[in-house]
Amino acid sequence: MSTAHDTRIRLRPPTIADAAAIHDLVVRSPPLDVNSLYAYLVWCRDFAETSVVALHEDRLAGFVTGYRPPRDPDTYFAWQSAVDPALTRPGLAFAMMAEVAGRARRAGARWFETTVNPGNRAVIMLIRKLARHHGGTPEVSTLFESADLGGAHDPEILYRFPLAEPWD
Ligand SMILES: CC(C)(COP(=O)(O)OP(=O)(O)OC[C@H]1O[C@@H](n2cnc3c(N)ncnc32)[C@H](O)[C@@H]1OP(=O)(O)O)[C@@H](O)C(=O)NCCC(=O)NCCS
Repeated sequence: MSTAHDTRIRLRPPTIADAAAIHDLVVRSPPLDVNSLYAYLVWCRDFAETSVVALHEDRLAGFVTGYRPPRDPDTYFAWQSAVDPALTRPGLAFAMMAEVAGRARRAGARWFETTVNPGNRAVIMLIRKLARHHGGTPEVSTLFESADLGGAHDPEILYRFPLAEPWD
């Protein structure tokens, strides 16, 4: 697969060989929470079908990790995403989100969810654009309060919208 804007970018599900580069990109992508390399290895093994990596000349340019919650398999939940600031291409994050959302929709998911830091304008614009692409507007609520996250972390705001057939 390639993005609509740059045929040198390829999108594909991750493998465990991508985990170290994903971990390294997260370290360089505040305000993302940095999880252990082990967590990304498990993610790349067990949630590859609901995640994506973008490669530019075989280097990691971005990723999205996500899953279908077992208690609510109608929903796709995007967990973390980032684009390498050194390799960024306008529209790359959107292309990755559209890829995982499309895959989830074709596999039967009917809702898209993600949480955002309330100060992260880039991801809020990205998710609103993705919701419009699927013909909707997101419902917004607080999933985790700052206190749930230990007090020194911003709240995590839930964005949820229906995964209707996308506009082209
Ligand atoms: C969030 C992130 C993945 C977005 O990547 P990106 O490459 O800027 O996204 P896109 O180019 O696909 O842009 C998507 C939309 O958001 C808009 N946008 C992006 N950054 C923006 C900003 N800082 N302010 C306002 N709008 C912004 C774009 O203009 C675009 O909308 P448009 O096509 O209508 O113009 C990237 O900024 C990043 O890696 N940030 C650090 C990690 C992070 O915060 N991850 C998200 C939390 S899990």
